[in-house]
Amino acid sequence: MTLRSVILGAGHYLPKKCMTNADLMSLVDTNDEWIVERTGIRARHIASEGETTSMLAIEAAKAAIADAKINANSIDLIVLATATPDYTFPSTATQVQAALGITGGAAFDVQAVCSGFVYALTTADNFLKTGSAKRALVIGAETFSRILDWTDRTTCVLFGDGAGAVILEAQEGVGTNADRGILCTHLRSDGRHLDKLYVDGGPSTTMTTGHLRMEGKEVFRHAVVNLAETVDEALHRSGMAASDISWFVPHQANRRIIDATAKKLGIDPSKVVITVDQHGNTSAASIPLALSVARHDGRIKQGELVLIEAMGGGFTWGSALIRW
Ligand code: UT7
Repeated sequence: MTLRSVILGAGHYLPKKCMTNADLMSLVDTNDEWIVERTGIRARHIASEGETTSMLAIEAAKAAIADAKINANSIDLIVLATATPDYTFPSTATQVQAALGITGGAAFDVQAVCSGFVYALTTADNFLKTGSAKRALVIGAETFSRILDWTDRTTCVLFGDGAGAVILEAQEGVGTNADRGILCTHLRSDGRHLDKLYVDGGPSTTMTTGHLRMEGKEVFRHAVVNLAETVDEALHRSGMAASDISWFVPHQANRRIIDATAKKLGIDPSKVVITVDQHGNTSAASIPLALSVARHDGRIKQGELVLIEAMGGGFTWGSALIRW
């Protein structure tokens, strides 16, 4: 028998305020045509004043708990991925834990920027597979609007706010690819690339929060190569083929990166879940948001094979194969 981390439910939350490309034209020298052609983004949600990452995370968590039809108190592990925590410390995960009335188990944040959800899911999976926890809440939540330089048109048009969450439960499988649950995960990082995507502030350097800085073209170039590599690795190690994948749910940074990766892997466009058009890049929240959207609109069904992948600051990147 093999312990598998089975997804019991998913949920998401988006701030009410929606900002279109036309709205951005009043802030910076940009236009709808450029943004849509270069990124595929048409709109993004922006947290209102006082609306924090933990608030978005709590709403997404409640939706996932309702979808899983479980009692919040049965959760003994919370792993929350964010690069935009409410406070330098304590973790946003512990705030979610308190808001849900959970007093047992452990809660902590992981920081891998846009790959954060893949890192958080992998971490939780390893806790469940080793029997260290039984039910995990895994969240990706961000308020990137707070770290954007709203005078920099090369970055401020790309990102949005939001949160997504899944509930995982350790269940016994037989150890084959037919099992429900997370079949494999792959994490990578290469710390030499800090200058290509980073925030120019922090408690130990400037004692400020700082603003996001990105060499877009360089990140794009690395993303296409690294993402194809991590997906190839996932398929190779699991002995599966791209044709076995029911749904490809990539990190939603840029429609062109998603299309190029899907094409390189030979994944049919009809199997690709796209939310970047309506959400923009929500960093660690993008994959759980897309998973929740596709689960609730009836696309992802129990037993189907889902491939997720992401690449972000660090650089960090990774993938996971999940039998829903
Ligand atoms: O989630 C973490 C990972 N992040 C990513 O994966 C992002 C990866 N990178 C990208 O998605 C793309 O590189 C961008 C969307 C950021 C940029 O697209 P690009 O095709 O690489 O454009 P570019 O940076 O080469 O800029 C082309 C032109 C420039 O003008 P010149 O120098 O050619 O005259 C820019 O100044 O477009 C200009 N430009 C804009 N024009 C209108 C840049 N931003 C804008 C804008 N509106 N918002």
